[in-house]
Order: sequence, then structure tokens, then C-alpha cells
Amino acid sequence: MPKILVIHGPNLNLLGAREIDVYGKITIDEINGALKKSGKEKDADIEIMQSNHEGEIVDVIGKAKKNKINAILINPAAYTHTSVAIRDAIAACGVPAVEVHISNIYAREEFRHTSLIAPVAKGQVSGFGKTSYLLGLEAAIELAKK
Ligand code: DQA
Repeated sequence: MPKILVIHGPNLNLLGAREIDVYGKITIDEINGALKKSGKEKDADIEIMQSNHEGEIVDVIGKAKKNKINAILINPAAYTHTSVAIRDAIAACGVPAVEVHISNIYAREEFRHTSLIAPVAKGQVSGFGKTSYLLGLEAAIELAKK
């Protein structure tokens, strides 16, 4: 069974209460429930973590191969635009990664238009709310089977 690691970056624990005009009312628990349900339907094992700490995210990506993760689904949140460390971890880990965003980062402030992660990800889904995660999961499962 393909094993997918879902990583939610900083402040995504606040979804549902945070900038509702941008991110909507959906909570992280609702997103995680939808991912688990979709994983079950697709015969994939879904492991989920959220962290507000860059180093913790770097650590978990670095251990992905050893932990038999076949693909990573990541919303790096604000670290998308700042973290060379997460970018390098993805490039180094030997596990394919799919980048997702709830909002359309290209339709927002200019500083969000640059993703340091995109060049090392297999692809990116941005702007579809919960559906970004579900589409990203579908892609991650395909990559995991390769
Ligand atoms: C985000 C977009 C980022 O620019 C922002 O910092 C986030 C969430 C999204 O899912 O739309 O925290 O990754």
C-alpha cells in the first residue's frame, strides 16, 4: 500500500478561524478527514502532521525515506516563500513531493508569487481550497506507485 506523508506548515492549525475571507471556514480537521477518506478509497496509507517549526518539518522530510514514505504532500504555508532549508530537504530526501495551497498564491501579494519549493516539487496545486489537497493527494498517490 503506498504511504503518503501529508505536511501542513505554520498557522494551518488555525484554519477555520484564520483570515476566513482568504482561506474559508474549513478546519484542518475537516481537511484531514477528507484526505483520510480519499486515501481509504484509493488504498493508500495517509500519515498527517502539522508544524509551526521549520526545523521540525526539515527533520520529518529527511526521515521520509527511512520511514518508507513513498510520496509527500506538503502545504509549506509561509515557508513556501522563505525556506531554503525545506526546499533543500525535499531535493535531498529522494521522495517525490507535491506542493499544495488553499489560496491562489499568484493572485495575492507579490511576495507570495515566488515559491522556493516549486522547483523541487513534482508539481503544484494552488487556489482550490480543500480540493487543492484532494487533487494533490491523487497526484501523490500516482507518484508513490511509480
Ligand atoms: C498558503 C499560502 C501562503 O502564502 C500562506 O503563507 C499560508 C497558506 C495557502 O495554503 O494558501 O499560510 O500556503
